[in-house]
Amino acid sequence: MKILITGGAGFIGSAVVRHIINHTDDSVINIDKLTYAGNLESLKEISRDPRYQFRQIDICDAQAVVQALNDFQPDAIMHLAAESHVDRSITGPAEFVQTNVVGTYTLLEACRQYWSALPEARKAAFRFHHISTDEVYGDLPHPDEMEGELPLFTESTPYAPSSPYSSTKAASDHLVRAWGRTYKLPVIVTNCSNNYGPYHFPEKLIPLIISNALEGKPLPVYGKGDQIRDWLYVEDHARALYTVVTKAQVGTTYNIGGHNEKKNLDVVMQVCELLDELRPKASRYQEQITYVQDRPGHDRRYAIDAAKIEKDLGWKPQETFESGLRKTVEWYLNNQEWVEHVKSGAYKNWIEQNYENRS
Ligand SMILES: NC(=O)c1ccc[n+]([C@@H]2O[C@H](COP(=O)([O-])OP(=O)(O)OC[C@H]3O[C@@H](n4cnc5c(N)ncnc54)[C@H](O)[C@@H]3O)[C@@H](O)[C@H]2O)c1
Repeated sequence: MKILITGGAGFIGSAVVRHIINHTDDSVINIDKLTYAGNLESLKEISRDPRYQFRQIDICDAQAVVQALNDFQPDAIMHLAAESHVDRSITGPAEFVQTNVVGTYTLLEACRQYWSALPEARKAAFRFHHISTDEVYGDLPHPDEMEGELPLFTESTPYAPSSPYSSTKAASDHLVRAWGRTYKLPVIVTNCSNNYGPYHFPEKLIPLIISNALEGKPLPVYGKGDQIRDWLYVEDHARALYTVVTKAQVGTTYNIGGHNEKKNLDVVMQVCELLDELRPKASRYQEQITYVQDRPGHDRRYAIDAAKIEKDLGWKPQETFESGLRKTVEWYLNNQEWVEHVKSGAYKNWIEQNYENRS
C-alpha cells in the first residue's frame, strides 16, 4: 500500500511515519510545510529508507498537492497537517483557519480530482483518513460539578468546540464528512484525546514541564491545575491510526483514547517525581511549580469512550500512563540535543546538511 501523509514531520505524524516504515511493508510520501512544529530530525531513523519520500508542501497549495498525488499515486491519505496549539490559536487564529479549514478543503478537492480518475477497483479501495481531536466535542462535566458516574465522549456526542483551534478542527471534520456524503469520497474520521510521548514540541504541557524543570525555570500550571485530560501514548495512537486506515469501513468515525483521565496538576507532579528519581538534584522539582492565570475558555474535562474501536477493530492501548510517562521522560533526558534544535531552529541547518531525500 502507498500512503500519503500530511503533517508527517509533526509530533503524531512522525510517529505514524516511523510506525509504517518500521512495522509494515507500505510506502509513505510525507508532505509537510515544515512550520515551527514540523521537524525532519524526528524522522532521522527512517529518512533513508527507499519506501519513504518527503516533499515540502503547504496543503493550501492546490497545484503542489495535485502534483504529489499524481506522482506518488497513493492508495490512502492520512491527513494530520494542522495548526495544533490552543494557546497559539487564541493569540493568532488566522493561521488556524487557513491551514485547518482552507488547507483541509484544498486537500479534499485535490483528492476528489485524483480519486475520481482512478480505475474502479482502486477507487473502491481508496481511503481519506482525517485525523482530528476530541476537543471538537467541547468539555464534559467535571467531578467537582457532578456526582456519580461521569459521562464520556462517544462518536455521537454533539460538537461544541470552545477554542479557535477546536472550532477549526470541527469545521474540517464537517468538510470531510460532507465530501464523503456529497461526492462519495471514501472518508474515515478519528477523534483522539491528548497525546504524549517522544518528539513532542516543548510548548505542550508534558515536554514543557520536562524542559523547564531541567533548566531550573518555573513550571507553569493554568488556574488550579484541576483540568482533566485523557492521555494516550503517541505510539499507541500511531498503531490505532494504521489499524483504522487499513481496516475501517468507509464513512465510520472512531474515538481513540487511553483510559487515563488525569488532572493537569497530577501530571505535572508525576513528571516531577520521575525527574527526582532519574535526574536528582538538591531540591525537589515540584518546588518550581507556579500557578498562572487560566487560559480563556479553558475546557475543564475531556474523556474518551474508546469502546467502538476496541470492539470493531481490536485496538487497545499498550502503555499505561505510568509506563508511557517513564518512557517519555527518559527519552527527553537522552535526547536533549533534539530539544535544543527544535527550540533554536538549528534543525533547519541539520536538514540542509543531513537530508538528501528532499525533492
Ligand atoms: N497532539 C495531540 O494531543 C492531538 C490529539 C488529537 C488530535 N490531534 C490532531 O493530530 C494532528 C497532528 O497533531 P500534532 O500534535 O502532531 O501536531 P504538530 O503541531 O506537532 O504537527 C503538525 C504538522 O503539520 C505541519 N503543517 C502545519 N501547517 C501545514 C500546512 N499548511 N501544510 C502542510 N503541513 C503543515 C507542521 O509543519 C507539522 O509538521 C492534528 O491534526 C491535530 O489536530 C492532536
